[in-house]
Amino acid sequence: MLGPVLLAAARSDGIRRLVSSAPVTRPVVERFVPGERLDQAVATADRLTGDGLTVTFDHLGENVSDAAAALRARDAYLALADALAGAGRGDRVEMSVKLSAFGQALPGGHDIALRAVLPVVEAADRAGTTVTLDAEDHTTTESTLAVLAALRERFPATGVAVQAYLFRAEADCRALAASGARVRLVKGAYREPPTVAHQRRAAVDLAYVRCLRALMEGGAYAMVATHDPRLIAVAQSVARRAGLPGDGYEFQMLYGIRPQEQARLAALGHRVRVYVPYGTDWYGYFTRRLAERPANLAFFLRSLVSRR
Ligand code: FDA
Repeated sequence: MLGPVLLAAARSDGIRRLVSSAPVTRPVVERFVPGERLDQAVATADRLTGDGLTVTFDHLGENVSDAAAALRARDAYLALADALAGAGRGDRVEMSVKLSAFGQALPGGHDIALRAVLPVVEAADRAGTTVTLDAEDHTTTESTLAVLAALRERFPATGVAVQAYLFRAEADCRALAASGARVRLVKGAYREPPTVAHQRRAAVDLAYVRCLRALMEGGAYAMVATHDPRLIAVAQSVARRAGLPGDGYEFQMLYGIRPQEQARLAALGHRVRVYVPYGTDWYGYFTRRLAERPANLAFFLRSLVSRR
């Protein structure tokens, strides 16, 4: 129950200032965010790909409040695409974007976000890579899927995240699978009302399995994004029963979470992609990681108390 409370408290500006400025915050953040600069993110990715993993980059930022900030997000991703171009990394690297960083929540935001993200998808394509749209709170789902459909007209490899906790997820998975989409399946990290999303962990896990089957049996390229050992095992067996080849799906995990499991799956021959966030706007991402696991929050609070 701590998770929803923390996600609600995290929206307070006072708490944001307190957490962002506390000197002890930085080392805890570094567990999940390997650097604020692009060159640090690229160096991390090169280390991970050297270890046989693959990577998706996320330039941190979300919910921008004006169009100029949306353009800054676009430019950050164009710089990333530039850094990736010509280095022969191929599909070992890709990019994840949050459309709210591209202005999706502004008035007329759907069109603003589509206009801002299109050049990023074009640049990714020129660099030999692809983009996956992250899933944010449920009020954005319809717009995100519409942006995806528009982008896939020219760039069919563009992917999207689907949150299993949403009641609509299984139907979305079926529709996306029918069009052969790349779909990252996640449990879901936002605080959602009971009118739209499962609230109990067991119900979310069951929904995750139903979505997995819809994707793997329905023709999608499934990106199985979870650290949950039970769901990882279920994914392997659903894939086997669906007759998928080893490169017919992949596992994804977040930077800093269960790295031994990442290495174990890669050693078994699975494609394992690590989500590598970077940038200065880490607060929202960081609080979602704390909310997912009470132990993270307890560790963070203890370090605040013991060093002040
Ligand atoms: P669960 O939370 O049950 O965790 C299983 C185990 O993993 C835990 O017991 C623990 O060992 C470990 N673990 C999980 N989270 C941890 C943490 N924060 N710190 C330490 N250990 C942890 N969500 C979303 O709403 N939109 C999105 O676009 C994305 N994108 C995304 C990409 C990728 C690659 C991943 C892996 C996840 C996301 N998510 C996401 C987040 C997702 O919705 C979910 O909140 C987290 O993955 C945690 O759920 P698990 O499936 O790992 O299971």
